[in-house]
Amino acid sequence: MRIAATADLHFTPQSYDSLREPMSHVRDEADLLVIAGDLTNYGKPEEMRSLLNALVGLRLPIVAVLGNHDYESCQERQLIRMMTDDGIRVLDGSGYEHDGVGFAGTKGFIGGFGRGVLTSFGEREIKAFVQASLDETLRLERAVSMLRTPKIVVVTHYAPIAETVLGEPQEIWPFLGSSRLAEVLDRHQVSLALHGHAHHGKLEGSTTGGVPVRNVALSLLMAQQPARPYRVFDL
Ligand SMILES: [Fe+2]
Ligand SMILES: [Fe+2]
Repeated sequence: MRIAATADLHFTPQSYDSLREPMSHVRDEADLLVIAGDLTNYGKPEEMRSLLNALVGLRLPIVAVLGNHDYESCQERQLIRMMTDDGIRVLDGSGYEHDGVGFAGTKGFIGGFGRGVLTSFGEREIKAFVQASLDETLRLERAVSMLRTPKIVVVTHYAPIAETVLGEPQEIWPFLGSSRLAEVLDRHQVSLALHGHAHHGKLEGSTTGGVPVRNVALSLLMAQQPARPYRVFDL
């Protein structure tokens, strides 16, 4: 299966104008499109409405997770409903099978990487914060466990490894993802992990267990030669 992937559209009608033409070719190059979060800028239903008008015209199956920006207006439930009504598979701690390939996804959360992962110690505010990260990890674990396909693609908004956030200021790395997510990838030896959020990170990395991780943030993809709003993976 050919999987096109992108993330961090931060949609505005103006910003999408330059993407409209290149996006129109996605159907010729891929069987399915993955959008790894931050579809909107402020999480407003109006933003989602105009994005959906553009996406429906692509006429290929779309699988998506929400990003932090899609939560900004606390209307994420409504956004998910709008997307689902238009036929988009929104992975929110859930899985989906398409042509023998399994997709599992969730937004993920922040918290840092490796030895720097924030642990649940001290104030209750810290504990609540860490719990949010653990909850997202458990949701991903559950979603992956449900799939019975030989190949599994994991989609998150936040990065599961530090390698693909390289290029971002080191001070903000802990806010770009959490390596707790990578433990799930390794435990299940998934085929591919896609994420966004680190707009200035690195395109490719892998978990310690060897799972390929790809950062498909739009700004990164558009900085390549040739610039393209999505990247295609053959699985
Ligand atoms: Fe973003
Ligand atoms: Fe983001």
